Parts: sequence; structure tokens; C-alpha cells
Amino acid sequence: MRRSRPVLLGCCAALLGAASGAHAQGADAARISLLYAQTCMACHTSAGSGAPQAGDAQAWRARVEQGMDALLEHTIDGRGGMPPLGSCMDCSEADFEGLIRFMSGAK
Ligand code: HEC
Repeated sequence: MRRSRPVLLGCCAALLGAASGAHAQGADAARISLLYAQTCMACHTSAGSGAPQAGDAQAWRARVEQGMDALLEHTIDGRGGMPPLGSCMDCSEADFEGLIRFMSGAK
């Protein structure tokens, strides 16, 4: 199941409003939404890119089982069709972790 773009934008507008009051766990939600839209989304919300799609729990299950450390390492080093840092030069490790949790549903 793919998250459609309107849902994503709807979520982001709400998050932008709520972010200042939210107690941030790592990077805040508004920043994650923005970074996602600017970088990861090009592949992770693009069927046929070969990337596991955001919100597709089945596609992420085996990857998530590797653990967050491995996912972070693979994102930072690049993996298969994914360039190093997932093309996000401004992302911190906390940002990557937030982005990965957002896409994969990892706890
Ligand atoms: C140019 C396309 C592209 C972009 C941009 C991209 N990815 Fe990926 N990503 C991929 C592809 C393709 C894979 C599957 C790689 C494989 O396993 O062969 C992948 C896999 C992953 C994985 C799973 C790695 C694993 O260990 O299985 C994570 C986590 C990930 N991406 C995070 C991100 C994040 C975070 C961003 C944004 C900062 C991002 N990606 C941006 C293409 C992309």
C-alpha cells in the first residue's frame, strides 16, 4: 500500500503546526517531513525505483530486522541503487534515524 501524496502533505501541514509544541525525539517531525520531501521521497515514494516504499511494511520487514544500526550504516555508506547519505548532504544521524522510522514504521 502506497501513501498517496495528498495524505503525506496533509500530514506535514499538521505536523508543521504541531512541531513547536511536540517533545522532539531526535529530529522533529517537521524537519523529517521536509527532508523526506527533498531527498528520500524521490525513490522511496516512487514504485519502480527499486527502493522499499515508504509505508510498505512488508517491503521493510526484513530490512528492519537488521536493526537500526545496520540501516543507518547502509544509508550513510549507500547501498545498491541508493547513493551515500541517500543524497541528503544536510542530514544528521538523528535525521536519518527519524527518516528511516518514518518510512519503515520501525519502532
Ligand atoms: C536515488 C534513489 C534513492 C534515494 C534518493 C534514497 N534511497 Fe534509500 N534506497 C534506495 C534503493 C534503491 C534501496 C534498496 C537498496 C538495496 O537493498 O539494494 C534503498 C534502501 C534504503 C534503506 C534500506 C537499507 C537496508 O539495509 O536494507 C534505507 C534505510 C534507506 N534506503 C534510507 C533512505 C533515506 C533515509 C533516504 C533519504 C535521506 C534515502 N534512502 C534516499 C534508493 C534511494
